[in-house]
Amino acid sequence: MEIQKNFDLKNLNSFNISAKTKYFYRFSSIKELQNIIEYNKIIKEKTIILGGGSNILLTKDFDGLIIKNEIKGINIKSESLRHVTIEVGAGENWHNFVKWSVTNNLSGIENLALIPGSVGATPIQNIGAYGMEVKNTIKKVYYFDIETLTEKVLTNKECDFKYRDSIFKNKFKNKFIITKVVFCLNKEHANNSNYGAINEELNKLKMEPSLKSIFKAVINIRNQKLPDPKKLGNSGSFFKNPIIENKKFQKLKQSYPNIVGYPIKNGDIKIAAGWLIEKAGWKGYTEGSAGVHKKQALVLVNYGEATGKDILNLSFKIKDSVKEKFDIEITPEVNII
Ligand code: EPU
Repeated sequence: MEIQKNFDLKNLNSFNISAKTKYFYRFSSIKELQNIIEYNKIIKEKTIILGGGSNILLTKDFDGLIIKNEIKGINIKSESLRHVTIEVGAGENWHNFVKWSVTNNLSGIENLALIPGSVGATPIQNIGAYGMEVKNTIKKVYYFDIETLTEKVLTNKECDFKYRDSIFKNKFKNKFIITKVVFCLNKEHANNSNYGAINEELNKLKMEPSLKSIFKAVINIRNQKLPDPKKLGNSGSFFKNPIIENKKFQKLKQSYPNIVGYPIKNGDIKIAAGWLIEKAGWKGYTEGSAGVHKKQALVLVNYGEATGKDILNLSFKIKDSVKEKFDIEITPEVNII
């Protein structure tokens, strides 16, 4: 078993932050995973499972074991008149799988193009963008139970998916490693272009909504608004969009008529945190190498030499100022380590 020591994680997190882990190990099969977890029962190190590294902020060196999931494979399991069931290794790159789905003429995840990270990370926070959430295509999630050292499975319902949330962030926290995700994609295309930005982009492209045109539109929009982590370190939205009661929203609207909010199922309102942060004056702000993206205030960026602590401190300041100005609590979407 090849365990690396004092391993620098700079190239494995999308913030491009340099931080070392005491031990590092890559696994690409259940057997290797079993071995390392069993071995860790002897060395007893704190453990973190790394996927694509696109949703973490490393604020210090890690005194423990980081294991990187590299279980691969995209395999069609069954096909019916309207659906195709596909089993995907948790270590596959998410965008590659979206590309695969569009190439194979299957719909359901095309609006989730270009979201950085691995397939195994997508159920954890139920990724979503441009009117689609991954929960609507997930059939089952296979996971490795750290206690029993066996692979188990949850149905979609059992995952308890909500906005940027699932059982994996709550009851199952630190008890599981996702190994495979089973998706059910549709032969009939959703053509979900309701999200304003998509419609605008399709008009610009002079294209009708279709599987391929929406995929292209999403890629264009993301490329315009969201920085490419390879060029500018970031982890997408740093905060979640907060949810407040309609009563409070109406009151805020009197002082801020342009406040951006969308009603959700139970009548509460999801507020665009990017708007709050921008109105609190942070858009484009920099402090050393840490900054708030010029085009999307919800995205914090590393201009080069920022440490995780620099980014974290900036996030605290933003959080406090939004609280003070709007009396709204914003919480990170990113996992802080
Ligand atoms: N807005 C501003 N200023 C900003 C940013 C946004 O006023 O600096 C306003 C926009 O004008 C717009 C509204 O906020 O009216 C929403 O902005 P946007 O469409 O960019 O979406 P978002 O709510 O900021 C969410 C997701 C993104 C996802 C987009 C598109 C969360 C936390 N973020 O952002 O997900 O790509 O919707 O669907 O829900 C991610 O999770 O990493 C991520 C990028």
